[in-house]
Amino acid sequence: MTDKKATLKIDGLDEAVDLPMYSGTMGPDVLDVRGLTGKGYFTYDPGFVSTAACESKITYIDGAKGQLLHRGYPIDQLATESDFLETCYLLLHGELPSENEYEEFVDIITNHTMVHESITRFFRGFHHDSHPMAMMCGIVGALSAFYHDSLDITDPRHRLISAHRLIAKMPTLAAMCYKHSQGQPFMYPDNKLGYAENFLHMMFGTPCDDPKVNPVLARAMDRIFLLHADHEQNASTSTVRLAGSSGANPFACIAAGIATLWGPAHGGANEAVLKMLEEIGDVSNIDEFIDKAKDKNDPFRLMGFGHRVYKNFDPRAKVMKETCDEVLSELGLEDDPLLKIAKRLEQIALEDEYFVQKKLYPNVDFYSGIIMKAIGIPTDMFTVIFATGRTVGWIAHWHEMLGEAMKIGRPRQLYTGATPRDYTPRNGRKAADKSDF
Ligand code: SDX
Repeated sequence: MTDKKATLKIDGLDEAVDLPMYSGTMGPDVLDVRGLTGKGYFTYDPGFVSTAACESKITYIDGAKGQLLHRGYPIDQLATESDFLETCYLLLHGELPSENEYEEFVDIITNHTMVHESITRFFRGFHHDSHPMAMMCGIVGALSAFYHDSLDITDPRHRLISAHRLIAKMPTLAAMCYKHSQGQPFMYPDNKLGYAENFLHMMFGTPCDDPKVNPVLARAMDRIFLLHADHEQNASTSTVRLAGSSGANPFACIAAGIATLWGPAHGGANEAVLKMLEEIGDVSNIDEFIDKAKDKNDPFRLMGFGHRVYKNFDPRAKVMKETCDEVLSELGLEDDPLLKIAKRLEQIALEDEYFVQKKLYPNVDFYSGIIMKAIGIPTDMFTVIFATGRTVGWIAHWHEMLGEAMKIGRPRQLYTGATPRDYTPRNGRKAADKSDF
């Protein structure tokens, strides 16, 4: 914190208002506007474009530089040197683990991967073609019905075991969604396999065969989880923080995060990218779609491009692109038609004045969908994979928020509705112009 201040001159107020300013270890200073309420004013910032909603030590993003740090470590170093579970430990505890700490953490997560057998009955209630994100929203929220022993959010020990359970069980539940859609038996986790390897085994293995997962694909899957692990105060993480600020249990908060992530403007973009590439169909059609994306009257946007924070390359997209090349080479799919369209689309967009001027670069979702499709994961499972990776970020922020002097999140508004008016009896009342709904 600093002793710097901003002095605000407000029309109609005789005296200027001093707003304290705070500096973090990195990033812009912030103005503490809490004193404005006492002067009869709110700040106004739809979409929270310019609002720091909290203080955090977990992840730092510099959108101009295309920089992403988890507890100070650059994402490209973690993606190439670390693995998903080590990054989970780092996000939860703030430091990289020692060898013993790492082995103990892996052991804890491995031994929490099974889910209560009753949960298998939940799936029977869903049609086989239910969207897996609909199933995940419901089932993750319902987990709180099974873990009464760890729902005291004021107890750090309960918070940690809930974090372990959620990180460990998300792949198992995700794979169950897929198996249900395929009409295949659920696969139990295999404690001899690594986290990502186990996920692919539960997705594509059957009780008829021994586990056999391609190590290149397992490494790619681990990297996809890692690259999605956390991303500062994005929409779904902010939802988890807001839900947690009411004292809701961690499973309900994570279910709220899953629901928010589902939107195509957020985590649903990877599924939307694949649908867009399939709709483009051939590189010869790209110009038509670029024109649609630039047309203010056309709601179409180039999925996988643009970001609220990154006004430079999304560093995750760079690593994802390398992983994409590795996977397609391993599977002999270098000539994948969708990849050809994606690479040509990226090249055109990065040269087009509209995208250059608006600083619209490929984001994390642009290549991840192509990798997952190559691995054999159906597009409606893409956001489930994103949610599985992001769970550790959500729970780290939830824990951090609860560790502070917690206040329930309750934004205010600029009200532009009807001014006070008296009720009139219905008989004789004329139909009025209704607001759009
Ligand atoms: C994720 O927040 C996070 O960190 C999210 C995430 C995470 O890890 O949690 O990084 C994950 O959600 C990545 C983003 C995935 N979404 C998409 O790929 C969907 C396509 N992208 C857009 O919907 C958009 O870029 C957003 C939602 C990502 C960002 O939108 P903003 O910051 O609100 O920016 P904006 O909508 O105000 O756009 C600024 C301008 C607009 O033009 P003008 O009104 O200024 O003339 O850029 C245009 C937009 O029309 N624009 C696009 C575009 N994205 C923005 N035009 C065409 N195609 C696009 N993709």
